[in-house]
Amino acid sequence: MRDVEVGLDERSYTIRIEDGLLDRREAFEPFARGGRMVVVADDSVWAAQGARLAASGLDIALIEVPSGEASKSWDRLIWLVDRLLELGVERSDTILAFGGGMVGDLTGFAASILNRGCAYAQVPTTLLAQVDSSVGGKTAINVAAGKNLVGAFHQPSAVLIDPTTLDTLPDRELRAGYAEVVKYGLIADPAFFAWCEANSAALIAGDAAARAEAIETCVRMKAAIVGEDERETGGRRALLNLGHTFGHALEAEAGYSGDLLHGEAVAIGMVLAFRFSVERGLCPSADADRVEAHLTAAGLPTRPVHGTPAALVGHMTKDKKREGGRTAFILARGIGQAFVDKGVELSEVEAFLAGEIPPHRQMGRGTT
Ligand code: GLY
Repeated sequence: MRDVEVGLDERSYTIRIEDGLLDRREAFEPFARGGRMVVVADDSVWAAQGARLAASGLDIALIEVPSGEASKSWDRLIWLVDRLLELGVERSDTILAFGGGMVGDLTGFAASILNRGCAYAQVPTTLLAQVDSSVGGKTAINVAAGKNLVGAFHQPSAVLIDPTTLDTLPDRELRAGYAEVVKYGLIADPAFFAWCEANSAALIAGDAAARAEAIETCVRMKAAIVGEDERETGGRRALLNLGHTFGHALEAEAGYSGDLLHGEAVAIGMVLAFRFSVERGLCPSADADRVEAHLTAAGLPTRPVHGTPAALVGHMTKDKKREGGRTAFILARGIGQAFVDKGVELSEVEAFLAGEIPPHRQMGRGTT
């Protein structure tokens, strides 16, 4: 068992990482009132892993949410809040979010507005959620104008990670989540990036020690960053968006479809961020090549295949992190040396992308 603390005064909480956690009734008893525990679960995850939690013998009031990013919508949020109210959820209750990033974001946002704010705990079951989205209190839904544009900062009261849930995660989703693991090395920990190069194959194959080591390293870094800069107001939290400005634009061009998973978009986005940094004379090209080689070895895409330069840059003008009409980019001086650059012109990004996307795919807008 490994515990990591997120230090946020009265909003502090523990992230627990333990193989088999899901099978231990005592881990979940604190979240049950009068023996009843309210669980909001991704329906696919519940089918694969729910029996383990149900075997605790706790009385579970279950709300199943359809799997997929489409559930992060106004309609599903209203539906979920109504279901929670029908169940008589009180402010003193803790709702459990059981699944990946979608269910964590949706449930966390519902919890932030229900009864003017009630508690929730995250039980992340995907690698992406275990190393990133379940920690730090960002909650959101997607709207017509873009991804995660409506939401709240609402910290969970606990994060309970059982890495054995990854045993039933589809391989493609596991690899996509692995992109967020690599992100931590690229941001600020070159030794961890080297560890990733040496251990990714074992991690992806399901090696328990490699899995636990990676999850703990990532959540330790994330907990430290969130503890310093909870609301992304000028501190290091923005660095966690490495690859995400390019990535979100690619996801938008892919129509948030199964064509491109979030982690895959982040993998391409991180390579673009490094290559753009090289083009600006900030980063040795050998580092960008090493990033691309590692992500390729991990079975991730590294080159953009969705959208034209103009269309991609168009999405960046809607980025929620824009300030004074400028989009902040996370660039790098090398592996483990990411920084925020607020001086990038979108025309420079468009010119850079024109060199990254083959000319035959630049004829007109949209996915080609
Ligand atoms: N996923 C980025 C953050 O939590 O800040």
